[in-house]
Amino acid sequence: MESERVFAEPWRVKSVEPITLISRERRRRALDRARCNMFRIDSQDVFVDLLTDSGTAAMSASQWAGIMGGDEAYAGARNWAHLERAVQEVTGLPYVIPTHQGRGAETVYTRAFVEPGDVVLGNLHFDTTRAHIRNRGAHAVDVIVPEGMDPDDLSPFKGNADLAAAERVVAEHPGRVKLFVLTVTSNTNGGQPVSLANAHAVSEFCRRHGIRLMIDAARFAENAFLVKERETGQGHRTVHDIAAELFSLADGAAMSAKKDALVNIGGFLALRNRADHRACQPWAVLYEGFTTYGGMSGRDLEAVARGLMEGMDETYLSARIRQVRLLHGLLSDEGVPLVRPPGGHSVVIDAARFLPHVPQSGFPAEALAAALYEEAGVRGAALGGLAFGERDPATGELSPAPFEYLRLAVPRRAYTDNHVAYVADAVRRLWAKRDEIPGLRLLYAPAELPHFTAAFEREDVRSP
Ligand code: F0G
Repeated sequence: MESERVFAEPWRVKSVEPITLISRERRRRALDRARCNMFRIDSQDVFVDLLTDSGTAAMSASQWAGIMGGDEAYAGARNWAHLERAVQEVTGLPYVIPTHQGRGAETVYTRAFVEPGDVVLGNLHFDTTRAHIRNRGAHAVDVIVPEGMDPDDLSPFKGNADLAAAERVVAEHPGRVKLFVLTVTSNTNGGQPVSLANAHAVSEFCRRHGIRLMIDAARFAENAFLVKERETGQGHRTVHDIAAELFSLADGAAMSAKKDALVNIGGFLALRNRADHRACQPWAVLYEGFTTYGGMSGRDLEAVARGLMEGMDETYLSARIRQVRLLHGLLSDEGVPLVRPPGGHSVVIDAARFLPHVPQSGFPAEALAAALYEEAGVRGAALGGLAFGERDPATGELSPAPFEYLRLAVPRRAYTDNHVAYVADAVRRLWAKRDEIPGLRLLYAPAELPHFTAAFEREDVRSP
């Protein structure tokens, strides 16, 4: 809340979880054990955890109270009715399918809507979406506006889709483009928003070509908040209203509730028409669970129902996005190369420019993540060649990704500004000694979603 000049969070703390900063020597050992992969580090060895904003929010007293009212019946739990109503109210989409998390919804809709050989358009596909599309034998093609890939461009809507590029893809692949996934906000380039004007244009494009439009709504409330702030003529509207307009443009939405619905687990798929619902439902039952729980317990359903509404509270959203901007501002003041402007949920360091002496083959994003962990026990996520490079199916060779980013994702309601200042100070120290940070050598990576389990060693040490 902003009163006079001093900001204060619009909540007070009811429960705390101790965190420990282990010694530098133990951090070095933890890094060795984890083979320099942040996903393989034990949480208890992390001090400030910015690996993800997914499933890491602090739930509210109301959500915890709702958990005690969980109805654990196999079918037709009352919490399901609450969730179904909440999703319908927020999205205006009548057919709701619960899923255990976002990728559960992706499994279901790609199974129903994507055929081998299809081309699936997206502003900038997230890694799990891309993997699900590939898993169906289809091709995921990004049509992000060029400014979305330029870290220095200050355009307000760097998540927008480039419809001229989309037209070219349709012309090159006649009859094969049947699905467009519009991800709001665009996670991969730092939570950059999509404007309502662009969403309207995407919707019109899809209708003209008979393409189904799905919204990846993981961060729809943050997107709506940024539309309210940045898009001409939207300032007087509520986030709820802006979000409703966005959903009104689509055939359906898939949501990882672990982001803007402020829960530790959960998700859903929401659809406009009955035929699509009928196409998806059998796959949901097969992969996720019965149609009134979808892999969630009754208590989870209730926490999502309540969190979905809380996540649209504008006082909360303003405090949350302000904290992301605080981190961005502190790093920017030090001259750290960042993706600008700040987006909704994360601050993204351009690792390629932070470590110009490390080529892409030395995994600059992963190398910087390892260095930050060793320096201060701070965990970020590397989004670079390994996560986003295309693999040649025959040789297994990685083609270069268009960026090497270290993402510092800020969990919702979990950390204070002191934690943010601590992180900024750690990055500042690394920036001062950046020339000493070594690249990494890849020891192992699986073919699909390689970044989660890959193993590395530092280029300056050869392990026994
Ligand atoms: N879509 C987007 C835009 C996401 O950011 C994520 C997850 C998913 C789908 C998949 O959802 O994890 O619930 O299965 N993003 C997390 C992240 C993992 O760290 O950005 P999920």
